[in-house]
Amino acid sequence: MVRYDSERRLWALEGKKCALVLGLADLSEPGGESPAGSRESLLLTVWYGSRLPSLQDYPVAALDPGWASFSSPEGLSPETYPAWGGARYGECALKGETAGGIRDLRLYYRDFRVRGEVLEIDLEDPLTGLAVTAEFELFVELDLIRTRSRLTNRGPQAIRLERFFSGLLYPRRDEAYRLTSLQGHWAGETRVRRQELGCGLTVLESRRGFTSQHANPFFALDPRGESREESGEVWFGALAWSGNWKVSLERDAFGMVRVAAGMNDFDFGETAVPGECLESPWFLFGYTDGGFGAMSRALHAWQREFLPRKKVYGTTGAGAPWRPVLYNSWEATAFGVNEADQMRLAEQAARLGVELFVMDDGWFGARNSDRAGLGDWQVNSGKFPRGLGPLIARVRELGMRFGLWVEPEMVNPDSELYRAHPDWVYRFPGRKPTEMRNQLVLNLAMSEVEAWLLETMDRLLTENDISFVKWDLNRSIAEPGTAADFSAGSDRGASADSVPSALGRSVWTAHTRALWRIADTLRERHPGVAFQSCSGGGGRVDMGILERFDQVWPSDNRDALDRLGIQEGFSLAYGAHLMEAWVTGEKNWLTRRSIPLAFRFHAAMAGVLGIGEDIGKWDEGEFAEAAALTARYKELRPLIQGGDLYRLSSRGDTPGGEGLSGRLYVSEDKRRAVLFAYLPRDRQAHHVSALALAGLDPSLTYRVTRDPQGSFPAPGNPWADFAGSAAGCGAGGEWSGAALMARGLATGLRGDWSSAVIEFTAL
Ligand code: DGJ
Repeated sequence: MVRYDSERRLWALEGKKCALVLGLADLSEPGGESPAGSRESLLLTVWYGSRLPSLQDYPVAALDPGWASFSSPEGLSPETYPAWGGARYGECALKGETAGGIRDLRLYYRDFRVRGEVLEIDLEDPLTGLAVTAEFELFVELDLIRTRSRLTNRGPQAIRLERFFSGLLYPRRDEAYRLTSLQGHWAGETRVRRQELGCGLTVLESRRGFTSQHANPFFALDPRGESREESGEVWFGALAWSGNWKVSLERDAFGMVRVAAGMNDFDFGETAVPGECLESPWFLFGYTDGGFGAMSRALHAWQREFLPRKKVYGTTGAGAPWRPVLYNSWEATAFGVNEADQMRLAEQAARLGVELFVMDDGWFGARNSDRAGLGDWQVNSGKFPRGLGPLIARVRELGMRFGLWVEPEMVNPDSELYRAHPDWVYRFPGRKPTEMRNQLVLNLAMSEVEAWLLETMDRLLTENDISFVKWDLNRSIAEPGTAADFSAGSDRGASADSVPSALGRSVWTAHTRALWRIADTLRERHPGVAFQSCSGGGGRVDMGILERFDQVWPSDNRDALDRLGIQEGFSLAYGAHLMEAWVTGEKNWLTRRSIPLAFRFHAAMAGVLGIGEDIGKWDEGEFAEAAALTARYKELRPLIQGGDLYRLSSRGDTPGGEGLSGRLYVSEDKRRAVLFAYLPRDRQAHHVSALALAGLDPSLTYRVTRDPQGSFPAPGNPWADFAGSAAGCGAGGEWSGAALMARGLATGLRGDWSSAVIEFTAL
């Protein structure tokens, strides 16, 4: 709940266990920065951490007189939404310049409103007329808060913004912090990185125009690096922005840590025209004392509850929209799609129990390789002489929905679209634009391009019975120039002529805003269509895209062991119901490991199950095994997509690594749970220790059953004795939740690539 203490001038946003407390402090006179004759107050963050019993327990906002007030010596409160101006040297939220050349902005408190769990605080710079409303929305049950800022220029002059962040947060002062982040690269996304937060600035960011595979807009900080999966304090956050983003973590010499997050200020330039209102993206953050597991469960629960739910998925229980099992044609047919092959694949997919058949790249224009066709979203008549209609009808007849791949923001120079509109791409005048994967990026900052893209996708969805769109993006934005910026008739920021240098830079944000608008409009016009965000794998995974896209493809990596690591990192910030996971080829072309089908399925069943393999090559035995596992997934789906995740590892092993690890999904009432256990690599004469369980109800007794699929030694095999049986409860029989959690579970897994599905049902 949001409480206001008028005497101490504090607002407390209190969750079940966390509290963010903001307060006001007057600037002292004389010598302070208050304009002559006024006594201004600053909005300060006085506490962010555990919830304390009474409001009296929180400190009041404290400010040192004079310039020292902003350099954050011990005991003083930092500014909640500082603009760069006055004697401020730390990371700021806002930086700008008026057309008259004032670069010194100051935000003073004006007013506040509380509406339910939302607190809005108005700040203003009396000299320039810049008004900012800092908005905080509290999610009490989840101990999460999201913040954003709305900026209105009430002054007479345009203000060119050089930085416009969503907000800042300040974990409690501690002697040291460890930073956990998700970094990687193509086919190796969301790798968990842990490092000590050193003095100075540590920056996580994307400058690629989209979220990117290289870093994800998520961070977690734990004091002294001592927090664990199920214990310890963690401050964390995730930014809802799908363009250039920045999370800047600053640790100063006084031990203060400030985390500033928002649209990246690198090459940034938006203009606040007089009278205009601009909005920053949301920044969702939280505090827990329950370790990284509790952090993830809070984020997942928020995503389940507050991201748009799609009726399109249908319901299989409790009114929740379960994501369907999909088949994707990419690995089987690549660009060589045609009606006959796709129909054959669809028939095979239907036999497996697939619910959504997705045709990938290659169905349009002159698209026979990645060299041509992007931009020409007409069906290739050589491959589909009768259009998409007959294929879609066959897919529907087989009881599945139909999905289609598109990459709408891109164009190949070898395309009708590019030949007609060579000026529709990002480029600087006089320079040849750089191609990546033989393609260029369409300039969505131009309103005619945005309109064309919307209309083209709208037509595709109107003319065809499409239930699912795989929206891909296979290169970064570069050379963000736009002809529109230099033309007199530009429709963006035209009235800001006085600050022309800002116009060119606004394309970075204009692209994301246009993409979001298009996605929002398509969803509105086609409420039955679900969208997948793909970007050469997991390049566009963020809380902003997830407000408009229903699930994501986390990586192009086809190796089930690699994927376990990627999925592990993904799960730190994002829920299993958002994570498409495909069963892919037995042999990865690079790692060249052969991984059994059951292991590949078990890895993929821990998310939104998909099958990406060339199923035409499977024999009857593989078909039967795959069909049984698909059916089993559907039974377990409400638990996987709707339950609480506990990441498990046997003592001494790392989840997502090569030792024994597990993912346990527990129902809300804790009466049912399912464990996916993996042992990718075994060692000779090694005792596989028990898997420490968590999240069960200690007072319940569970029946424990292990599915027949998977690979583990048959009962009676002497090696099974080394599978954690000495200390752990067995993977069969009846056990109390208390015993399962204290003693752990002897999974019985032995040998490379062994895996199992183990179910727990309360008696
Ligand atoms: C990259 C995606 O990640 C793949 O799944 C596939 O759709 C290709 N693009 C198609 O070009």
